[in-house]
Amino acid sequence: AALKTYQFDVQVKNVSRLCHSKPIVTVNGMFPGPTVYAREGDTLLVNVTNHAQYNMSIHWHGLKQYRNGWADGPAYITQCPIKTGHSYTYNITITGQRGTLWWHAHIFWLRATVYGAIVILPKQGTGFPFLQPYKEANIVLGEWWNNDVEEVVKQGNKLGMPPNMSDAHTINGKPGPLFPCSEKHTYALEVEQGKTYLLRIINAALNDELFFAIAGHNLTVVEIDAVYTKPFTSQAILIAPGQTTNVLVQANQAAGRYFMAARPFMDAPVSIDNKTATGILQYKGIPNTVQPVLPQLPALNNTAFALSFNAKLRSLNTAQFPASVPLKVDRHLFYTIGLGINQCTTCLNGTQLTASLNNITFVMPKIGLLQAHYFNTKGVFTTDFPDRPATPFNYTGAPLTANLGTKLGTRLSKLAFNSTVELVLQDTNLLTVESHPFHLHGYNFFVVGTGVGNFDPKKDSAKYNLVDPPERNTIGVPTGGWVALRFRADNPGVWFMHCHLELHTSWGLKTAFVVENGKDSDHSVLPPPTDLPPC
Ligand code: C2O
Repeated sequence: AALKTYQFDVQVKNVSRLCHSKPIVTVNGMFPGPTVYAREGDTLLVNVTNHAQYNMSIHWHGLKQYRNGWADGPAYITQCPIKTGHSYTYNITITGQRGTLWWHAHIFWLRATVYGAIVILPKQGTGFPFLQPYKEANIVLGEWWNNDVEEVVKQGNKLGMPPNMSDAHTINGKPGPLFPCSEKHTYALEVEQGKTYLLRIINAALNDELFFAIAGHNLTVVEIDAVYTKPFTSQAILIAPGQTTNVLVQANQAAGRYFMAARPFMDAPVSIDNKTATGILQYKGIPNTVQPVLPQLPALNNTAFALSFNAKLRSLNTAQFPASVPLKVDRHLFYTIGLGINQCTTCLNGTQLTASLNNITFVMPKIGLLQAHYFNTKGVFTTDFPDRPATPFNYTGAPLTANLGTKLGTRLSKLAFNSTVELVLQDTNLLTVESHPFHLHGYNFFVVGTGVGNFDPKKDSAKYNLVDPPERNTIGVPTGGWVALRFRADNPGVWFMHCHLELHTSWGLKTAFVVENGKDSDHSVLPPPTDLPPC
C-alpha cells in the first residue's frame, strides 16, 4: 500500500462553451477536474486549498471512509465548509474497494463544474476478473449552463419553481458538434482495430439520468459503483447521477469514426430535456471517408429499457468477490419519496416546491452533524426520523393532492452498530411520480428487490434476490415504484442519504443515519483531524 498526495487548488477560471464564456469554479483550473489514481489499500492525502470566493467541500463519492466520516465531505453533514483562503486535507484510506468512483463539490450546486474521476486499480499483481483491456479511458458525463449556475438556483428558489434546464450535456466537459461553436469542444477517443478498451463511465450530471451508447459497438458491463458484475452486453447503458459503470468495448468495426452519445432518460410527465452530447470514437489509421452516424439511444421516456437494463445487473459473487447480502434483518425501514408544496415567505407566489421522505423535509443544520454527534452537542439534530410513514396510503394511486405540505426538521435515524437494515424506498404520486437516484454515503447496499406500484411486504419480499443482487452506492428508485436495499451498519458515524438530482436535494429530499459506535475504540468513529474546518 502506498501513500499518495494530491494538491487541489480550488480556483475560478474562464471557460467557453456554446459560444458563451463565463467564470466557473474548478480544481487546478481543469474542467472536468483531475483524475485521482490509487490502488486498493492505498492512502490518499488530498489537500484542498480554496482560492475561490465560494465556500467549498469535496465529497469522495462511493469511498466508504470506514470510521472516518471526517473525510467524507458533504458540507454541514460531516464538516463545515472550507472557507476562502483556507485548506483542509482529506485523509482517505481505500479498504476493500477497487474500480471507478468520482469526487465532486458537495455544497450548493457547485458540483456543476467541480468534479472528476477516481480510478482505483486492483492491488499490485491482481488483474481484473475479466479480459485484460488494451487501454482504458474515463467518460465523465455532465451538464453545461450558459448562465451562472448559482444564479440559476437563486432564480428558481425565488420563483419556487424548477430553475432552467442546462443548455447542454457534456462528455468529459465537451458538448460535441451538435451544439453551436462546439466543433472544437468534442471529446475524441482514439482506438486501434482489434483491441479491447475499458471505459469508466461516470454520470456527474446534476439533474439527469442518462442513456449512453456508441454507434456500431456493443457495451459489455463489467462493474458498477466499483463493484464487479456478471458481464452482460447491451447496446446502450442507463446511468443515474452519482453512478459509475465500467464497460468493455471491442474496436471491431471498419469505418474510421463513430459517434458516442449521451442523452437523458426522463419519464416524469414534466420532462422536456433532450439535449444530446456527442463524442467521437476514432480508429487509428483508418481514413474518415464517411460521416459518422449517431448511436441508437432509447427514447427519452423508455421506462421499459430502464427496467430491463437494471434487471440485468448482478454482483459477480465469486469466492474472491462474494456478495455478502444480509439474510436476516434487524431493522425494517420504509421511506416514501414525495414532492410537494410548502408555504414560503420569500417566494413570489408565497409557495414553493418541496420534497420529502416520510413527509419530512430535511433542514440543513448550521454546524456539521458528525461534529455534533461526536462531541455530543445538543440541539443540532434529533434521532426521531420515523421508520415508516405515519399513515399508509395508496402511494402510487391517482395524483394525490392531500399531504402536499410537509414537516420541516433535521431528523435522523439511529442505527445500532453492526445491525442489518432493510430500507424500502417507495416513490409516491404526491404531485407527480418521478424516478429518483438515491445515494447513501459511507456504504454500499445490496439492491435485493425492485418493482413498480406499491411495495407489498409479503409478496415482494418473497421474490428478493439474496444470492447475487447488485451492490452499489446509488440506485434509481423507479418512477411510481420501489426498491428494497439491505446493508450492515458496520461503519460508525453520520452518513448522508439523498436524491442525487441536485434540484431535489435542494428541495429537502435528504436525511442522514447516525450509526452508533461498536464496543471498543477499534469500532468507533476516529478522532477528528486537527485541520477540520471550523464553522
Ligand atoms: Cu455524490 Cu452526497 O453525493
